[in-house]
Amino acid sequence: MNLFENFKLGQNTDLKNRIVMAPMTRSRAINNIPNEIMKTYYSQRSGAGLIITEGTSPSINGLGYPRIPGAFNDEQINGWRQVFEGIHKNDSKVFVQLMHTGRVTAQINLPEGGEVLAPSAVFLEGEIYSDTGMQPHTMPREMTLEDIENAQDEFVEASKRLIEAGADGIELHGANGYLLNQFLNPKTNIRTDSYGGNYENRARFVLETATKVIAAIGSDKVGIRFSPYGVFNDLQGDYDDVVSMFTHLATELRKLNLAYIHIVNQRVAMNAPEFATDISKTIKDAFKGIIIVGGDVHTAEQGEELLNKGYDLVYIGRPFISNPTLVKKLETNEVLTQPDYDKLYTAEAAGYIDYV
Ligand SMILES: Cc1cc2nc3c(=O)[nH]c(=O)nc-3n(C[C@H](O)[C@H](O)[C@H](O)COP(=O)(O)O)c2cc1C
Repeated sequence: MNLFENFKLGQNTDLKNRIVMAPMTRSRAINNIPNEIMKTYYSQRSGAGLIITEGTSPSINGLGYPRIPGAFNDEQINGWRQVFEGIHKNDSKVFVQLMHTGRVTAQINLPEGGEVLAPSAVFLEGEIYSDTGMQPHTMPREMTLEDIENAQDEFVEASKRLIEAGADGIELHGANGYLLNQFLNPKTNIRTDSYGGNYENRARFVLETATKVIAAIGSDKVGIRFSPYGVFNDLQGDYDDVVSMFTHLATELRKLNLAYIHIVNQRVAMNAPEFATDISKTIKDAFKGIIIVGGDVHTAEQGEELLNKGYDLVYIGRPFISNPTLVKKLETNEVLTQPDYDKLYTAEAAGYIDYV
């Protein structure tokens, strides 16, 4: 299997290769608005067949980190429109990752009027970065049924507006401990209503949200990211019904004709234990659609190994930070530049758009 071959993702999204730039938060969106340096950054990396943007909040309540972009007001949408133009000019495609941070925040990071919400009032130990230094997380308020419906409406509205502004699709961030993942995981979801309890109930919020977003923008424009066995943001990695959970999700998402499932392996970069079962294969077998896998891929050969196992697309994260022409470099086996880790999340252009 060749990493550099064309690939058809859904009806209208032709990818020039099978390399996906992984979603990466870079905290350059001053006032949560996508800007000129973000346009430059993504344009520079549009050798990728598909770019999945950094986590982007559909809600004022989901802007958990400083300077992450939103997709719920006119300025944010207009900023994104410019970013999409830059990506499309270079014949790449873009899905915006919709990330609602839920309990992963401190009140000080949210704009006025924002509230820390989660499936249950379960405190996240430890501190989070803010523009005024590290801050303890804020105890979330348990979402009411009305909050649940509001949050789902926010996902729908943001999706519609992003598509109208030129995005090729959206990715629901169901991984890494953010709101959707907080519903799936038994440590963060201790509800006793129809959104909590057994795996079918815990999956309900995610499946309803996917159903509503698909109804609004079409199934070939919606993907989802999961992190089975993930422990990032203090989740329980392995739990009794974890295999049933992901089999159920994949089976139901297949019925919805979802564009893809994107499986992040947190062993890489986030120090989670190795998957306790071959969960990627379990998901693939139940979903029977397009699967994105990756993590720690630094050569074409490593990417092609994943394709040869039957997966469809390969995500690459950190190497894209410091190698804007990564696809060319992989094709010609060039040595890759290492990222400057001190500059990952600053507000500056340095360490962002000055790599060659
Ligand atoms: C700086 C940075 C920011 C990240 N932000 C996100 C994010 O917003 N959403 C997400 O799903 N994953 C995020 N990740 C995880 C990456 O998408 C990817 O899964 C991880 O870096 C492992 O892949 P790699 O070995 O190719 O870098 C981030 C990773 C890094 C290094």
